[in-house]
Amino acid sequence: MEGKEKSGDYERVCALEEVPEHMPLRVKYGGRGVLICRDGEEIFAVDEICPHENQSMKRGVVFNGEIICPHHQYRFQLDSGRCNRRCAPVQIYQVKIEDGEVWVSV
Ligand code: FES
Repeated sequence: MEGKEKSGDYERVCALEEVPEHMPLRVKYGGRGVLICRDGEEIFAVDEICPHENQSMKRGVVFNGEIICPHHQYRFQLDSGRCNRRCAPVQIYQVKIEDGEVWVSV
């Protein structure tokens, strides 16, 4: 795709320094909204859409290894996508950091 940096299946989505603490950064990957989340030194990527009622989690809170959906406060683990309630997991993406840049893959 023109104008996009790609390496294998990975696509560069943002600079590491752009990812804030405690809130997700929404980027586009493969035509979908993906939320880049910082948990201390680690970076995770989860789908923007909450599997509970298919609403955006871009205004969610990132805390203690989880993203908390702003709509009904279901919590999803950033590393596995698993939910703390009876709900399907959120889709997670592979992340790699290279030279201060965040790359995402399915
Ligand atoms: S839409 Fe996310 S918890 Fe309900």
